[in-house]
Amino acid sequence: MASKAFLLSLAALPLSKAETVLGVYIFSRHGDRTPKALAPTNLTSLGAEQVYTSGGWYRDQYVASDASTPIPALSRDIAALTQLTVTAPVDNVLQNSAQAFLQGLYPPAGSITTQELRNETEVTAPLGGYQYIPVNAVESAASSKSSENNPWLQGGSGCDNAVVSSNNYLSSSEYKTYYADSLDFYQSLLPVINSTFTADAANFKNAYSIYDYINVATIHNQTIPSSDLLTNETLLELKVLANVHEWGLAYNSSDEIRAIAGSTLAGQVLEALNDTITGKGKQPVHIQFGAYAVFSSFFGLAKLPSISDDFTGVVGYAASMAFELVTNASVSSGYPTTDDISVRFLFSNGSAADVTPTTYPLFGQSETTLPWTTFVSEMNKFAIGDTPDWCRVCGVTTGSCASSSSTGSSGDNASTTSKSGNGISLPVAGVIGALVTLAVVLGAEALIYVLSGLTLTKKSTLAAAQAAANGASGGSKA
Ligand SMILES: *[C@@H]1O[C@H](CO)[C@@H](O)[C@H](O)[C@H]1NC(C)=O
Ligand SMILES: *[C@@H]1O[C@H](CO)[C@@H](O)[C@H](O)[C@H]1NC(C)=O
Ligand SMILES: *[C@@H]1O[C@H](CO)[C@@H](O)[C@H](O)[C@H]1NC(C)=O
Ligand SMILES: *[C@@H]1O[C@H](CO)[C@@H](O)[C@H](O)[C@H]1NC(C)=O
Ligand SMILES: *[C@@H]1O[C@H](CO)[C@@H](O)[C@H](O)[C@H]1NC(C)=O
Ligand SMILES: *[C@@H]1O[C@H](CO)[C@@H](O)[C@H](O)[C@H]1NC(C)=O
Ligand SMILES: *[C@@H]1O[C@H](CO)[C@@H](O)[C@H](O)[C@H]1NC(C)=O
Ligand SMILES: *[C@@H]1O[C@H](CO)[C@@H](O)[C@H](O)[C@H]1NC(C)=O
Ligand SMILES: *[C@@H]1O[C@H](CO)[C@@H](O)[C@H](O)[C@H]1NC(C)=O
Ligand SMILES: *[C@@H]1O[C@H](CO)[C@@H](O)[C@H](O)[C@H]1NC(C)=O
Repeated sequence: MASKAFLLSLAALPLSKAETVLGVYIFSRHGDRTPKALAPTNLTSLGAEQVYTSGGWYRDQYVASDASTPIPALSRDIAALTQLTVTAPVDNVLQNSAQAFLQGLYPPAGSITTQELRNETEVTAPLGGYQYIPVNAVESAASSKSSENNPWLQGGSGCDNAVVSSNNYLSSSEYKTYYADSLDFYQSLLPVINSTFTADAANFKNAYSIYDYINVATIHNQTIPSSDLLTNETLLELKVLANVHEWGLAYNSSDEIRAIAGSTLAGQVLEALNDTITGKGKQPVHIQFGAYAVFSSFFGLAKLPSISDDFTGVVGYAASMAFELVTNASVSSGYPTTDDISVRFLFSNGSAADVTPTTYPLFGQSETTLPWTTFVSEMNKFAIGDTPDWCRVCGVTTGSCASSSSTGSSGDNASTTSKSGNGISLPVAGVIGALVTLAVVLGAEALIYVLSGLTLTKKSTLAAAQAAANGASGGSKA
């Protein structure tokens, strides 16, 4: 049935168009928000506008009937919920961002939804036909601390080994050097930040929180105490230091477990795109909202910093990356085979409406269009897609991991390197620690079916494992 709908919809596409986008996975950061240092964090009006216009750009790209590369069979004006999977962690800022993005993707359809009653009265749905598109919540465990309210990166991930790894950064010589060299700099900014940060906290350990606090103020505050201290040079220095700090927590080429968020995202992207293909386009659009740390971890794993050091920087508000399934095969005779399908990666470092997404080659390769099979094998070098693998590389044996470890692949002890049937090879560090925030992606499969009547992605036991693991994570501020 789905493929029949697919074929029918193709008839409507211009035949001259060689390339067809069959589906897309979009991962986006939230828009402008209040500072993490002043929790609870909220999306601002400016932030809502950023993600809304970003959604509008994607609409013009893939959804609208006059889109540049309309995805076949995708509903054009009225969202068909079975075609979309949208997720975001249980977090004000991320949930609201996803909602605003969806309003750009499928704006109110007033005139289309206006209906005439038997007595000839015309009725338009509330809010001009606002479309109610559910955003499935990703359980971000560590309960009290939702991701945008927590200044720390690795946190609620519940992945013990990743926590240990990120903590290791804080005792690395690189960190200590930066800490010592920047101490005077941060102390000199106390007149600007002392209503929120004590002298004890004015150092490199809080590089991101301090940058974030000042950056938000430069966007929103009419008056900033001692603002004369904030020269362009100082603002740049704050940003550079924050970037160094966050990158250090998110990725280390010789310790890939640190990038667990990127590994989990890779697993989700693979599964989602594969579902689009095996379902012959029944569910072509996947959207997930998450934190900048997920971008950083993924960028590191996908070797994007080999193209530019810029990829080691924290991405801008409303930044997004998109994985497109593309084909040059004629789609009028049926859904293309995987041999004819390629993947293209795009990134926009801000609202897609302001910064047009650009293609970049992944995995240190030169091609920006990779055959599906190549994409899969490259992603599988670091993707984590199921519970036993996650439990094993994270060194978690409690909660749902208890059952998964008793059924198999565990048994590795500290500092061994193990390999799963999936081709995942990550060093296992062992030890138990507690740290920071990455809640985000890990729970992504833990979909809570908020509204009834939806058929969405299949529930994976990974979710349960993660939720359980998250519950066990401490959240020390290392
Ligand atoms: C965020 O919104 C909540 C609820 O309206 C409010 O209590 C809180 O002060 C806001 N946070 C900031 C930083 O404005
Ligand atoms: C038409 O029907 C609707 C729904 O029953 C009702 O609310 C409305 O008042 C009716 N309009 C007229 C002009 O009778
Ligand atoms: C990266 O990991 C290696 C090996 O664990 C370690 O020697 C190095 O200090 C780490 N670098 C940072 C910046 O954490
Ligand atoms: C913050 O610094 C300013 C300028 O040095 C000083 O006047 C003020 O008392 C300080 N405020 C706090 C809360 O320490
Ligand atoms: C900006 O304004 C907010 C709200 O008034 C305040 O809490 C915050 O401390 C200010 N930030 C700076 C750097 O002055
Ligand atoms: C500081 O940067 C802003 C925005 O980039 C620019 O408009 C301004 O001229 C710069 N100021 C100085 C003193 O360079
Ligand atoms: C795609 O899904 C099919 C059917 O579930 C499965 O057999 C195949 O291994 C999957 N391929 C990838 C690359 O995940
Ligand atoms: C995105 O923008 C931020 C902020 O300007 C910058 O630090 C970062 O390097 C940029 N990333 C890329 C990939 O361009
Ligand atoms: C389709 O063909 C064009 C022109 O040869 C090429 O640039 C593009 O990469 C191809 N796309 C795919 C998905 O193979
Ligand atoms: C792992 O270490 C524990 C405690 O050191 C030991 O009892 C157990 O036998 C080890 N397991 C394997 C598979 O080596």
